[in-house]
Amino acid sequence: MILASFETSCDDTGVAILEEERVLANNLASQVNVHEKFGGVVPELAARKHLEALPVLLDKSLDEAGCSLDDIDCFAATVGPGLVGSLLIGLSFAKGLAIASKKRFIGVNHLLGHLHAVFLAFSDIKYPFVLLLASGGHTEILIVESWEKYLRVGKTRDDAAGESFDKVARMLKLGYPGGPKLESLASSGNPGIPFPRPLSGKDSFDFSFSGLKTAVLYHLRQNPEEKKEDIAASFQAAIVESLLEKTFLAADRFNISTVVIAGGVASNTLLRSEASLYASKRNVKTYFPPKEFCTDNAAMIGKAALEMLKRGIYSDLCENAVPFLGLNESC
Ligand code: KG4
Ligand code: ZN
Repeated sequence: MILASFETSCDDTGVAILEEERVLANNLASQVNVHEKFGGVVPELAARKHLEALPVLLDKSLDEAGCSLDDIDCFAATVGPGLVGSLLIGLSFAKGLAIASKKRFIGVNHLLGHLHAVFLAFSDIKYPFVLLLASGGHTEILIVESWEKYLRVGKTRDDAAGESFDKVARMLKLGYPGGPKLESLASSGNPGIPFPRPLSGKDSFDFSFSGLKTAVLYHLRQNPEEKKEDIAASFQAAIVESLLEKTFLAADRFNISTVVIAGGVASNTLLRSEASLYASKRNVKTYFPPKEFCTDNAAMIGKAALEMLKRGIYSDLCENAVPFLGLNESC
């Protein structure tokens, strides 16, 4: 079974080819140079760039995988959540190929893709596990009971974690995308500024990051001479602590000994190293997808689609883009 998958939910165009469990090709076209002058993603431009990039990346991926279009048994694409114009490009591309070649089509929930990214590297993860999903648009804690059963126990009440990284990076004039740039600046800073850890110590698995963001803004205004490196390092320490405190509180409360951390923010090095400290204190095993599979990519969409295929789940060609799709609403 060879599958081609497409990820176009936001500003990265991804194309992957998977054969059973193996990733034969995984290519990404970044649109950073298109959007950085605007300080964020311009949806119309993103959709047009996906349209240009998809055929080129598909050719490249088929070459790398050593196969032709005729060898592909199934085409999968992200159905949501994401920018509707961008989603429609990837979906239409996959559906068009499926129709032309009389092959199957599968629409994949982007969040399910982030979750399945971890299975690209680890096949021994046991259910149930606590999932922290932290990306640019989502920050939630779920108890994953089986491949299709999730219970959301906590979520952000305002900004997503990745969004907070992006907003604070903008305050520090680091440009876009903010997360990796802030992380790199923070690596030479001192995390000593006591920024708040919102909702810390509360009996809730929810997050709140807008107060933290505002605290950074006021601190910057009141201390214009403060080293940006120290502000970045202190903000990063606060957000990482908030994410891990709630995640491991959920593991304790539900008596679950496996934690999976996924989504773009899971590529953060401090989050990865601190998580192992939290885990070792309570005999919990923690898994992260490899960094290349944390941020948006098509291999994770392909992996989730393969799981659906294994269970005989295909999509109708009428399936439409769902910009606000959640993880518990549909696969
Ligand atoms: O999962 P993702 O690629 O796209 C969404 O589905 O949103 O996540 C993107 C988010 C952005 O907000 C980005 O700033 C953040 O993940 N991010 C990071 C890092 N790499 C990406 N945040 C912190 N540290 C990083 N190294
Ligand atoms: Zn994503």
